[in-house]
Amino acid sequence: IQVSPFDLVVFGGAGDLAARKLLPALYHRDLAGQLPDVARIIGVSRRPLSREAYADFVRKALDEFVKPADKKPEAVERFVARTWFCAADAEGEGGWAELAGMLASGADHVRAFYFAVSPDLFAPLSQRIKQFGLVTPQTRVVLEKPLGKNGESANAVNSAVAAVFDESQVFRIDHYLGKETVQNLMALRFANRLFEPLWNATHIDHVQITVAEDIGVGDRGGYYDTSGAMRDMLQNHIMQLLCLTAMEPPDSFQADAVRDEKLKVLKALKPIDERNAEQMTVRAQYRGGSVGGQAVKGYLEDLGREISTTETFVAIRAEIANWRWAGVPFYLRTGKRLTRRTSEIVVNFRPISHNIFDSSAGRVSQNRLILRLQPDEGVTLEVTIKDPGPGGMRLRRIPLDMSFAETFGVSNPDAYERLLMDVIRGNQTLFMRADEVNAAWKWVDPIHAAWAHNDQRMHTYAAGTWGPSAAVALIERDGRTWFEDA
Ligand code: BG6
Repeated sequence: IQVSPFDLVVFGGAGDLAARKLLPALYHRDLAGQLPDVARIIGVSRRPLSREAYADFVRKALDEFVKPADKKPEAVERFVARTWFCAADAEGEGGWAELAGMLASGADHVRAFYFAVSPDLFAPLSQRIKQFGLVTPQTRVVLEKPLGKNGESANAVNSAVAAVFDESQVFRIDHYLGKETVQNLMALRFANRLFEPLWNATHIDHVQITVAEDIGVGDRGGYYDTSGAMRDMLQNHIMQLLCLTAMEPPDSFQADAVRDEKLKVLKALKPIDERNAEQMTVRAQYRGGSVGGQAVKGYLEDLGREISTTETFVAIRAEIANWRWAGVPFYLRTGKRLTRRTSEIVVNFRPISHNIFDSSAGRVSQNRLILRLQPDEGVTLEVTIKDPGPGGMRLRRIPLDMSFAETFGVSNPDAYERLLMDVIRGNQTLFMRADEVNAAWKWVDPIHAAWAHNDQRMHTYAAGTWGPSAAVALIERDGRTWFEDA
């Protein structure tokens, strides 16, 4: 179904995110017939570009980041014809009158401002938008991460934005929420009888959430070194996955109902601070090594520096202090230059309460539910069955597997496709509310403070491994193992 007519203004329109994610996502939605004829995409950046030069940038981005099978010359040109360009400076007044002029013809359209720039510019951009009278009743603003470096700076950004936009107009993007498996987690939990009665400390032993990447920091070292794995991945993506896994059933799928429940999870997280950070957290940095058979450099070499105190890996043993989850550890882990790109939520159920089979049947394995976000999205439920054949009762764990690509014969749309259309539709369910962001920082800030205060050891790990041995020890201390080792 087509969305309403819209103008999408992308600040950072000639930047990396626009090229890699935003333009390809919009192109795919156009290809699917979802964009109305009048929809326009206006790229904005400080550096002047002619409309033709921007069109070339768009063509190049699509050429590079759209799968060959989806590249249709006619569709590409139709999409390019929707794109416009305007040079404007967030910190000055240059270009804004022109932008206002361009937008005037779409006064009654949905108007979305996408801030795909450094968060330092969110406040000045909001002010200019107000100053030039660009906020209409149908206006929304999309904020890309990182939303600040800590609670204080996130608050400052949120207040500056709130001075111009109502919270109902603010879309804080966490692209993990647009991933198909993440939405499926909610369908699985709340559209099936099967799982919810077991979804608690009585039946679940522990949960593992891993977001592993094989890539290094590439040419993003400048940004990454000010951020680290904790701010870049854990504070947002992983904590959102944690919230959706652990939240109480909301009373509806309305944005605030879902966000209220996520917020409660964040608030119930047991604090980690200088007293327990050494036991509950591991931070580490990659050394040189080999990924997929190829030699790769270490983090410091990638960065071109001799010293950095930034972690490229973090593992945390988290606990949620509420009735449902008391005593159930949530092991969280993310890192760059790990063995392979894989992201999953693994829910490990407790053992059966009594085993009726004798030892010749073999071990009765515990059930596991694996929600795979990457590389191939899908859900696996591991169950124990009898090994087929006349050999008597021998037990074996098998996967009941559902790969989305196989089951539905289509590959999933990129997360940004779904989220950008939600922005136009005005649906905030898959976006973070300001209080959620605050609550996430409230848990993360004391961990950073503890690392500094205790001068907690920065472990290292060879690129291409699953991280430092300290992360293995973190979970093995509890008599458990990481999923890939089990
Ligand atoms: C981004 C991080 O938010 O997510 C990157 O800034 C990371 O460092 C990326 O590589 C991972 O996203 P995905 O969708 O490829 O898992």
